[in-house]
Amino acid sequence: MLFCVSQAPDYEPTLPVSEKTNPLTRDIDQASASSIVKMLKACDTQMFQEGAGRTYQRLFSDQVITTMMEVAKRVEVILKDPEDSLIVLSGCGTSGRLAFLLGSGFNKELRKMNQNPIYFYIIAGGDRALFSSQEAPEDDPHLGTLSLKKICEGKKRVLFVGISCGLSAPFVAGQLEFCLQHPDVYTPVLIGFNPAHQARDEHIPGCSFTFCSVVQRMQEFAKSQKAFLINPAVGPEAISGSSRMKGGSATKILLEIVLSAAHAATFSHTPVTYKGILQHMRAYEATVDMTYAQSEGITTLVEAAGQSLRCGRSVCYLGWGSLALLALIDASECHPTFGAAYKDVRGFINGGYRDLNNSEGALTSLGPEFGIAHEDFLHSFLPSLNDQDIVLLIYTHSDDVSEVVKLARRVREKTSNLHAVYHQSDGDPAASLQQEDISKLCLSTLDFTWSSSASGCLLHMWELSTKLVLNAVSTGAHVLKGKIYRNHMIDVQVTNSKLYHRATRLLQKLSGCPEPQCEEVLLKAVYQVEELSMDITSSDITRHTHAARNTTQVVPLALVCLLTGCSLMEAKSHIKRQPIIREAVAVIIDMS
Ligand code: F6P
Repeated sequence: MLFCVSQAPDYEPTLPVSEKTNPLTRDIDQASASSIVKMLKACDTQMFQEGAGRTYQRLFSDQVITTMMEVAKRVEVILKDPEDSLIVLSGCGTSGRLAFLLGSGFNKELRKMNQNPIYFYIIAGGDRALFSSQEAPEDDPHLGTLSLKKICEGKKRVLFVGISCGLSAPFVAGQLEFCLQHPDVYTPVLIGFNPAHQARDEHIPGCSFTFCSVVQRMQEFAKSQKAFLINPAVGPEAISGSSRMKGGSATKILLEIVLSAAHAATFSHTPVTYKGILQHMRAYEATVDMTYAQSEGITTLVEAAGQSLRCGRSVCYLGWGSLALLALIDASECHPTFGAAYKDVRGFINGGYRDLNNSEGALTSLGPEFGIAHEDFLHSFLPSLNDQDIVLLIYTHSDDVSEVVKLARRVREKTSNLHAVYHQSDGDPAASLQQEDISKLCLSTLDFTWSSSASGCLLHMWELSTKLVLNAVSTGAHVLKGKIYRNHMIDVQVTNSKLYHRATRLLQKLSGCPEPQCEEVLLKAVYQVEELSMDITSSDITRHTHAARNTTQVVPLALVCLLTGCSLMEAKSHIKRQPIIREAVAVIIDMS
């Protein structure tokens, strides 16, 4: 993958921050559950590090805070005069899911004040991508533009927020480019976590622009406040390239601060100030600290979830409200990141689609993986549950706790492996009898009690905290299952161009073979052939990534072939004998 790197950063100089390996997690694949949690804590803490040199802006950088204020003021203008206006949040994968979560949350706020909703979300691949991995549409800039045009038809003023953690998704690049061409209506805002010069500079088929060239034009527009870039670095991900983790958390933090400041300015006459933004950021930093203060409890969950996955059973999140949405988001990324089956990590939400308000409505007809309601859990999951499956109840004091008790009892009849993650504020009455009942039914309870006087919306803090816990559970469990090699996604799906290049790079790194050879073997694994036909070699990446949707363990197979010189058939039988991918790979790397 090409990146326009004009100032060489410290290490892995050809890679942008979001794709670099994190030295803190180099040995995560060999770590115990408690060390995994410690490493994740250290990585998340990096988000708030200050003054990491002049090359990278950070969350607390002056420029970042100032731009956040400017964007908040634009939002305020729209909130005060919403006629013919829209605020659109858009992204791919977790970035699009967070666009949905944030848009829904702030629309809810507006409805409470009898205002019309003004936020719209776009996710590459449509609503099915909210709960399942759909990587291919990420590569399509025209699709991005079309979906934006469609929802903005007839509008006179649109604030468009494009989220791409890696400054890399062509889908978002297309939308930003469209905004730049129509500055009379559209003001684009880009959220991402690489310095501008590290934006992806790879040719996008059918386009005259790259993500990098769009960023450069945005920088020009930004001089006259016709575009805005908020792109602090938050340090490399714990699992290289897994932007659902810090990238997702930082997206949530930045946008919540901006939108909350705008709402406060509009509805509570609290002007947007530098100090206010800074204070709010500190509240999120404290939330990360508060969350990891319960590292022991998180470790228990990681250990138990790892145990379930290791014996081929499931991790099941049963959530309420927006915390359940975060659970669904967490579960949806396990397929592309770890090559997991959809049954491995599942999320369920009370009320199902009824309460979600997603634009395409109920998606249950698309297949069993789209059954996301508690009723779906009761019908399709509960009957086959046993002690090897872990079930996690995720809720807050404001949810209907009697419902939680009822469900906990039903689950407890099938498995004792029941745990709870629970948030309340110190202003709430002491734990109710019902809460005590739940704790008695559970093997472990993570009870977070937050100070009601802290700045920032408590629900937002609970959500971030839940996201960190669940990211730790699903990542940690897959690490323990052997799905990570060093700190790389060894079983990554190669279903779009970014993932394809990431896979090729990983093969080069681990095998030491030249790029053309790695790509050749990767294609053999994608198409499941021992020899590549002309038809295959003359095809483009779009076709390769399309074909990769139907195959599994592509990267592990290619790596075994590269390291041993064996055939694809032989590689398959090696992996069959040693299904723990990390061990299968480690054995061969040690031998070679
Ligand atoms: O390609 C899949 C993916 O990597 C998801 O895991 C991620 O959430 C999504 O792309 C979005 O990436 P970005 O925010 O960098 O555009």
